[in-house]
Amino acid sequence: MKSLETFEITSFESELSEEIKAKAVRALEGGKVLYFPALPFALSKEELKFLTPSILDPKSKNISYDLRTDRLAGALGEAAVLKEMVKRYAEKSRKLLNQLIPHYNQTLIQAKTSFRPAEIFGRKTSYRKDDTRLHIDSFPSSPTKGERILRVFTNINPEGKARVWRLGEPFADVVQKMAPRASTPIWGVPHLLKLLGITKGFRTSFDHYMLQMHDTMKGDLDYQKTVPQEEIHFPPGSTWIVYTDQVSHAAMSGQHVLEQTFHLPLYGLFNEETAPLRVLEKFFNKSLV
Ligand code: SIN
Ligand code: FE
Repeated sequence: MKSLETFEITSFESELSEEIKAKAVRALEGGKVLYFPALPFALSKEELKFLTPSILDPKSKNISYDLRTDRLAGALGEAAVLKEMVKRYAEKSRKLLNQLIPHYNQTLIQAKTSFRPAEIFGRKTSYRKDDTRLHIDSFPSSPTKGERILRVFTNINPEGKARVWRLGEPFADVVQKMAPRASTPIWGVPHLLKLLGITKGFRTSFDHYMLQMHDTMKGDLDYQKTVPQEEIHFPPGSTWIVYTDQVSHAAMSGQHVLEQTFHLPLYGLFNEETAPLRVLEKFFNKSLV
């Protein structure tokens, strides 16, 4: 499949050749999903008990963990063993990236880790939060100012159930179609949003346009149906890595996935040209941060 670059790596701590490393960084920054069909995250017998949505606090859809503070959120009750499991994933996914793309080691920022034990098919939310619609990641309360959003996923479903995604058109094509439909940022609004605590930090023009594109894509049902797309099945025991701010994606069904988010400043990239900030700046012919 043209959206995937497949690697036969079977351990999160493999020593890798220079050839593999070069291939990985080019494919990833070029907008492909790095796919590891046989890279499982093993669970102990005790940990298998966590594979149920009933461990979720009813107010949360995910369990989330922050390696920087060593805090777990979203779980019901005493969760020390669960925390160790998610923490192990945080550490292993970092090791994998360090091996695979050593170019990022100095600049890669480890953000939240999540465990998603609920079935995603049929979840009821507003269209903006509906991740079964093709979108690029952009979050209203968390401006990135152009920093990248890089995510590692591993399907840990114990019943053989795949995580099913759709992958849409290349980022530059998304921009051609969606950016002209975006509203113009209104002077003063970013200050107000920050002041009122609606955004964590300043919503730059880049963040404004990313959010507008995210919402416009999700809101256009004709686009969702007719845009060139592929359906991908990620089976249990597989891992994949993707720039979700760049790759148009939708998560259709599946249950029990682990996910680690990283941020990367633009100067950490191998090639800035394909970064959403640079593509949008080229489109609007001005600086957006
Ligand atoms: C998303 O990033 O849209 C959701 C991915 C997933 O949970 O599989
Ligand atoms: Fe997403």
